[in-house]
Amino acid sequence: MGIEAWVRRVPPAAESPAIAPEPVVEATPGPEPEPAAATAAADNDAVATLGWEALRERVLGCTACALHTSRTQAVFGVGNPEADWLIVGEAPGAEEDRRGEPFVGRAGQLLDAILRAAGQDRTSAYIANILKCRPPNNRDPEPEEIGCCQDYLARQIALIRPRLILAVGRIAAQHLLATDQPIGRLRGRVHRWGEAGIPLVVTYHPAYLLRSPGEKRKVWEDLQLAMQSIREPAEAARQ
Ligand code: URA
Repeated sequence: MGIEAWVRRVPPAAESPAIAPEPVVEATPGPEPEPAAATAAADNDAVATLGWEALRERVLGCTACALHTSRTQAVFGVGNPEADWLIVGEAPGAEEDRRGEPFVGRAGQLLDAILRAAGQDRTSAYIANILKCRPPNNRDPEPEEIGCCQDYLARQIALIRPRLILAVGRIAAQHLLATDQPIGRLRGRVHRWGEAGIPLVVTYHPAYLLRSPGEKRKVWEDLQLAMQSIREPAEAARQ
């Protein structure tokens, strides 16, 4: 399928010495509630207190927006609930909607290769989406839909407490960083997410890479920054 192996060229985090000075990084707030989130907020009031199983049940039974009428099933997320790396994509596609797992189609195979290049896989990292249900015809998520889903992802992040969030694609990046800046301007630096200030790195969506394989080098650079943000946080923060 044109997906070559991505070979890691830097040592994994544990093998590298940490660099001392404190990071100086612009703080980025967690996402502002989407306009329509107020409607969903009533339902989602208690989401911030749910444990994994209750959260999964809530997501799988969610009817907060119209997407529940067209989905086969909601797609909760997959991976290690204590992961260092949290990968956040956009929304399930047709294959994910059918199988109930994120990134299992062609783009998912490329994401697996990207993860391998970072010394990760879908058992060590955690993979989730901004939207838990598939938008019809894979259209972009509507702000109302994102608003209905955002507490679920926030709770997943709070439970995982990852050391790094890798936002793949424009939708994930813009929503997590509460900005409308183009993805090209969001790449290449370490942002911070939420009150905990979790390092967040932006990269291109694997579906985009399938269409534009020439951009793989940039994703490789983003991965290097992501790995550095765990290994040498102060150094990465200066980029
Ligand atoms: N694209 C995404 O952003 N997420 C998926 O789960 C599948 C494709």
